Amino acid sequence: MIKNRLLLDALNGDNVSRPPVWMMRQAGRYLPDFMKLKEKYDFFTRCKTPELAAKITLMPIEQIGTDAAILFSDILVVPQAMGVDVEMRKELGPFIPKPIREAKQIEKIVIPDVDDNLNYVFEAIRLSKQMIDNRVPLIGFAGSPWTVLCYMVQGQGSKNFDIAKSFCFSQPEAAHMLLEKITTTTIKYLKSKVKAGVNVIQLFDSWGGLLSEDDYQKFSWHYNQKIIDSLKSKTKIISFSKGCWFALPLMAKSGVDALGIDWTCSARNARYLTGGKVTLQGNLDPSRLMSTPKEIEKLTKKMIAEFGIQKYVVNLGHGILPNVPVDNAKAFVNAVKNYSV
Ligand code: CP3
Repeated sequence: MIKNRLLLDALNGDNVSRPPVWMMRQAGRYLPDFMKLKEKYDFFTRCKTPELAAKITLMPIEQIGTDAAILFSDILVVPQAMGVDVEMRKELGPFIPKPIREAKQIEKIVIPDVDDNLNYVFEAIRLSKQMIDNRVPLIGFAGSPWTVLCYMVQGQGSKNFDIAKSFCFSQPEAAHMLLEKITTTTIKYLKSKVKAGVNVIQLFDSWGGLLSEDDYQKFSWHYNQKIIDSLKSKTKIISFSKGCWFALPLMAKSGVDALGIDWTCSARNARYLTGGKVTLQGNLDPSRLMSTPKEIEKLTKKMIAEFGIQKYVVNLGHGILPNVPVDNAKAFVNAVKNYSV
């Protein structure tokens, strides 16, 4: 039985004494111990060695005191398992040497046996669970099919993913064929993650906000909904679609247990658009962790007052930035733990 149940209670909509807190991308990035591992092992070695992945997964619960752990991994292990090479380059980030640009490439993309191809992820989950020893829940995750397509087609990170969008609008049939394949793989992958022991899953739709409302429904949310429908009887689901406040009314009816909100949408607006019934997660601007600890505490308390204590998971509005001082991350987490009305 998990001792700290705040996240699970908040996702259930049960009453809590204070909201739970964790930070997107909390495993790695800004922690000095992680930097040391980074000098020794390249990115995918860290992902593919269960002992390293588990060690990084535990760092934030032990060093910062978050109410949940998130598995150290990456959304791009899914395209790798589907037969697309993905490299992690030092200055550039993800790099796909042979990006998808034509329908005939998609025919060759496989829906893998995830238990075989991604076994290292499930081993990392089992080991992390053992090491967490029921202190807090463990979150597993996947990218939304749209966000994964963005990298597979663009071939690297981008501000606007112009090549990926042009591909979808000029070859919609091919795009949907690819999105279907990613969706089928993601469903199998997440089911195996749940079997391996994660207590919650989060879908990261980091690039959903690049689409118009209609295109978001067609190219992204349609597939997220399929994933939610297949997983919702098996686990708790948080869906985070950055920049997609316009889709909140639709997402609130999807059967998810919580919706992630970024910092451009106010608590009041998010509660209004979701009808006040769904648990919300967010939404401090990650750059705000560069303010002083005192200012961070003030802003965090204001944010809790605005969202309310119930049906709320404190988080950042996107991933923590690599240059955040550890004491500032602690100030954020401690402000939540010390919150009193
Ligand atoms: O939350 C966690 O800390 C768990 C680990 C995690 C990573 N990636 C590790 C990582 C998670 C949840 C992700 C998700 C992810 N990966 C997303 C969705 C979330 C988001 O931020 O929008 C996306 C878009 C990716 C793709 C990706 N991976 C990019 C764009 C980059 C390069 C830039 C960067 O630092 O994020 C990565 C590399 C990556 N993934 C790193 C880490 C710790 C940094 C590289 C390294 O450690 O060598």
